Amino acid sequence: MKVAPSILAADFANLAADVARVADVADLLHVDCMDGHYVPNLSIGPPVVKSLRPHTDLFLDCHLMVDNPGTLLAGFADAGADGCTVHIELGDPRVLFDEIRALGMRVGLSLEPQTPFDAVAPYLAEIDLLLVMSVHTGFGGQPFIAEVLDKVRAARVAIDERALPVEIEIDGGIKIDNAHLAVEAGVDILVSGTGIFGADDPAEAAREIRAAGTK
Ligand code: DX5
Ligand code: ZN
Repeated sequence: MKVAPSILAADFANLAADVARVADVADLLHVDCMDGHYVPNLSIGPPVVKSLRPHTDLFLDCHLMVDNPGTLLAGFADAGADGCTVHIELGDPRVLFDEIRALGMRVGLSLEPQTPFDAVAPYLAEIDLLLVMSVHTGFGGQPFIAEVLDKVRAARVAIDERALPVEIEIDGGIKIDNAHLAVEAGVDILVSGTGIFGADDPAEAAREIRAAGTK
């Protein structure tokens, strides 16, 4: 099981320092890119990834909540992103998958809480990461939507049946008290923003989330 602190909840004015605080315990860093159109919030993009890249060797797991991800993929790759995740709600993602791979990054596909598992099932053999949203995208600090765990279970079965090399990541509202539910349902990677960077000791919070998930 892996832990991915979401830097959306870090202090952007002290980003390298906040990342350094969790570096020993994080398995990857989750980077939320929001464009103010796909979601009603605006966050960060390739320039910040480029600034962060020299400060960490962690996998930079970029979650693209934008209307036109295709226009940003080369920028993310040039900036040093390791993976880009796009949303199924935008339509057939295959062209984006090809671009992400051609740019040397890992391919992620995400689905919103209201989107059924069937929408992503046809693409499982073409991706590295399935990102199951457990809040509606746009903001950190929202409550966990437990109903999405049924989709995690369905994904776990589908991936295991075919022995596909796809990791299941969950994102939104993950805290110490619910991490075990996600892992029991079959999650491989726990994203947590406010659950980690909102804590007095982010590294300790990340350790506790991992421990809670492995119980
Ligand atoms: C929401 C983002 C999440 C967010 C999670 O749109 O995709 O990655 O940072 O934040 P928490 O863990 O606070 O719910
Ligand atoms: Zn995210």
